[in-house]
Amino acid sequence: MSSPFRIAVFASGQGSNFQTLVEAIQNGSVDAEIVLLVSDKAKAPVVERAHKAGVDSYVFDPKAYAKREEYELEIAAELERRQIDLVVLAGYMRLLTPVLVDRYAGRMINIHPSLLPSFPGKDAIGQAWNYGVKITGITVHLVDGGMDTGAVIAQKAVEIRDGDNLESLEEKIHAAEKELYPVVVSWFAKGLVHVEGRKVSVLQN
Ligand code: GRF
Repeated sequence: MSSPFRIAVFASGQGSNFQTLVEAIQNGSVDAEIVLLVSDKAKAPVVERAHKAGVDSYVFDPKAYAKREEYELEIAAELERRQIDLVVLAGYMRLLTPVLVDRYAGRMINIHPSLLPSFPGKDAIGQAWNYGVKITGITVHLVDGGMDTGAVIAQKAVEIRDGDNLESLEEKIHAAEKELYPVVVSWFAKGLVHVEGRKVSVLQN
């Protein structure tokens, strides 16, 4: 048997995407293991979820460091020690420096709740809602040095219909995330993702 594909999830908040991945692994739709949760918020619900799922956590306090690079070097050591194959950002609310981005180039992904390049940054769902677009959605992308600028791996559109409000849109977006993110992670676990510059293709299963 080959050894399992080893994932670290970075998250700062609720952790519903973390939970979806845990369940996708449990039900066999993703052939991988979540080896570590990295969080900058000791009290975030995601930390409790990791505890319940039996996943080790590495929690740090960014205020205890003078520079981002300092805590990222410690995180990098944790990731290397645990031989992480893929870093999955799931609501991790900090910008990353080259310390992590360069080490995990092509092996670090993020999910963003808009159709990039529209509405990058914070509150993407609110930005799309306020703009009044009729179609928004979600994007899974590789992480590079910019804010939500990495090469796109997969996207899923979500319609904004008459009668929707911000809350119903948020629900639709989160439901779409829960469908798409485990599928993309499984592509990585199976070695199906091929990257050439900004063009990402998925080899046939
Ligand atoms: C998701 O909407 C994701 O797109 C964004 O942050 C949110 C995280 O939600 N990057 P959760 O913590 O996984 O519930």
